[in-house]
Formats: sequence, C-alpha cells, structure tokens
Amino acid sequence: MSTSTPAKKEIAAIKGTKDILPGEVGIWQKVEAEAKGLFEFYGYRELRAPVFEATDLFEKGTGETTDIVTKEMYTFTDKGGRSITLRPEYTPSVARAIIEHRLYLQPDPLRFYFIGPMFRYDKPQKGRYRQFHQVDVEVFGEKDPAIDAEIVEMADTLLKNLGVQNAETLVNSVGCRACRPAYSKDLRAHAEKVRDLLCPDCQRKIATNPLRIFDCKVESCREQAARFPKISSYLCRECRDHFTKFCSYLDLFGIPYKVEPNLVRGLDYYTKTTFEIVSSGLGAQNALLGGGRYDDMMKDFGGPDLSAIGFALGMERLISILKIKPEKSKFLYIATLGEAAKTKGIEFARFFRRQGVESLIEFVGRSLKNQMSRANKLGAAWVLIVGEEEIRKGLYQLKDMATGNQNEAKAEDLLKIICDSA
Ligand code: HAM
Repeated sequence: MSTSTPAKKEIAAIKGTKDILPGEVGIWQKVEAEAKGLFEFYGYRELRAPVFEATDLFEKGTGETTDIVTKEMYTFTDKGGRSITLRPEYTPSVARAIIEHRLYLQPDPLRFYFIGPMFRYDKPQKGRYRQFHQVDVEVFGEKDPAIDAEIVEMADTLLKNLGVQNAETLVNSVGCRACRPAYSKDLRAHAEKVRDLLCPDCQRKIATNPLRIFDCKVESCREQAARFPKISSYLCRECRDHFTKFCSYLDLFGIPYKVEPNLVRGLDYYTKTTFEIVSSGLGAQNALLGGGRYDDMMKDFGGPDLSAIGFALGMERLISILKIKPEKSKFLYIATLGEAAKTKGIEFARFFRRQGVESLIEFVGRSLKNQMSRANKLGAAWVLIVGEEEIRKGLYQLKDMATGNQNEAKAEDLLKIICDSA
C-alpha cells in the first residue's frame, strides 16, 4: 500500500471571477459612493432588478445576433423547466421593470442607475471577466440630443472626480430602422466580396447582421472592417440632425470628443447615438464605459413608445487604473487582560461605538504586550489598556499611537481625550 497521500485539489474561485478582498474593497466603496452621489445630483434614482431573468428578455433586448446572446450567456433551465439567464447586461432589465411597474405613469423622471454584477461567458483575460461589475445608467422618454450629451458629460465628470486621466470620448451614430437597412445591404455586399478573408464567425454574420463584423477581435476581420463603408454616409436626415446637435451640445458641455465612424457597439438595440470612453491605461480591453440610444426597445417589449439612452461602466477596468488608496479610518484598540477586564472592555467598546468611535476588541487571549504590538501593526489611532489594576483604581491608560503620549484618565474623561485628538 502506498504511503504517499494524493495531492489535494485546492479549492479556488471559478475561472474568470475574482474575490474583492477587504484591502481593495475600500476603493470599490469609494467609487460606488462617488457614482451614486453624482447620479442622484443629476436626478437619477437607483433601480434594483434581479440577477437573473427569463432568457428571452436578453434574446429580444440585447439581440439575437450579438456575441453576448449567441456565445456568452449563462443560461440554464430551472426546476420549473423555465429558461433562465444570469444577466449579461442591465439595460433590458430596466426596460422590463419600467413596463412591468408602469413607472412611466408616475411624474418622476425616468432616470435610473444601478451598480452590480453581470455575467458573460467570454474568454477571461486582463479586463475581461466572467463575473464583472457595471455601473449602469439609463434614461427613458427623453428624445432630445441634449440628454445624450448630458449623460456623456455625467460619465466624464464621474471619471474626472475619480482622477482618471488619459480618457478619450468616442462618438458615432448608427442610424435608425429607416436608414440602417440600406447601410446593412451595402455592408453585406462588401463583406461578401472579402468573405474568404473573414473568420467563420464573421462569415456567418454576413447573412445574420453584417454590422456585428465590427465587433470581431480577429485581426484579419478588423483589417477588412476598417475598409467597409461608413454608416455616416447613410444616415437619414433625422439621424444626421440628431448627431449634429448631439455634437454641438457636447461642445456646449465642454466635452472633447472624437467621431469614430466604426463605433457600432456590440449590442443590437442601438439607434442614433453611440459612445465609448476609452483609456490608454487599460491595454487591449480599452473601453471604460460604453453606451448609446436605444429608441425601439420599449415598444419592441410591448411597452409605450419611449425613447431611451444609457451607458454602463466596467468597475474592474475603472479600478485597475485608479490611483486612489483606500482611506484608513481612525480607530481605538481596546487591550484587555483577565476576565473582569474583558467584561469592562466590552462595555467600553459598546460605549465608544455608540459615541461614533470605531473600536476593536479581540477575543483571542493574547498577552498585553502582544495586543499592544498588534494595535500598532493594525494602525490603531489609540490603545486603551484595561487590566484588573486599572479597574480597581478606576483609572485607564490611553495611548495616542501617533504621538506616543500616554494619558491616565477616568472612564468619563476618555471620550473627550479621544475626540480632542481625533
Ligand atoms: P457593454 O459595452 O457591453 O455595454 O459593457 C459596458 C462596459 O462594461 C464595457 O465598456 C466594459 O468596461 C465593461 N465590461 C463589459 N464586459 C466585460 C467583461 N467581460 N469583463 C469586465 N468588464 C466588462 C453594455 O453592457 C450596455 N448595457 C451599456 C448600455 C447601457 N447601453 C445603453 N444603456
């Protein structure tokens, strides 16, 4: 019999997912707070939809010819035999919720935001995860190109407030159902001529939706796509006017931008405006956020004919380029020795927390010396020493870790000393 033990398979997170550990979570919280504060300031309110939805919501909404729907959805059949999908994006969920709850009958602006996880089964790499987080913003019922520009300005402000540099705003128009068919027809004809130079996926897209060839990451397809006709020469008068006004409002808002004629975005629902903010600090997956107008989704879902626009920002990508450090809070470490001191320490912890002083007391039976060095290592602002002797005398040692000063004080004076040195 062999004496060697078989190698244990280590437990690990699923490929393409990642833990956000306490050290990093502070940055996430800061970004989330900044985003929420800003959006509320512009009249947006949070709307929380479920993590999973009926699969056909995304088939209909995101679009049958997108990479997301054809290749990337986490879809399963539940015990009731329903086809369920973990949301790959948030936009269709918001449209569904508005229709389901008839939010359009209320006087409030239909402006919403949400921050949460999305799921796409794509090839994991830097900046691309299978579970990732989006900051999502959506507006319904506003047709005017001024909102297109304001939403871009809001995204730009968020990035600036977070100290993002080297970001560039790209804009385009993908037309509408009136003008896009002629473009698709010409695109199809062009793609057909170079069929053999396209990957099998793109060869299929010639028939289904030639616009989706622009999403392909294969180099030879990108080379061909760069030579395809541009949608800008096909826009109808309404779409052209909309785009011109959108650009002039961007000027009014003081947002520099570049017109990128191949920016068709990887989702089928876009009409008129599309935009992305890219950053050179990101590498191959350089889109920090992307969005656009989708004026047909509401009526396609059987709801009222409300135009819409929105964007989503990738949290992982944003955080990877932020230089901010999580803020360390000032806290009190309560070091105790002995059973009576432990009881007293718990009383102190409860008292100080109620007074708004972050307090840490640990129950691992360390020596006083070890507790002191631990408080130091953890970066405590103050250490309160509670031993049998202190309890008997009613006088406690409070050490200010920044100055090294140690005060002996009565219980009732401790709070004042802490607050004065905070
Ligand atoms: P999207 O371009 O598919 O648009 O995604 C928006 C952003 O999410 C991307 O720019 C990127 O930062 C991030 N992202 C996407 N996929 C991944 C991934 N696998 N790993 C990490 N980050 C990722 C949408 O989702 C639309 N719903 C945006 C929108 C809202 N359009 C109108 N309203």
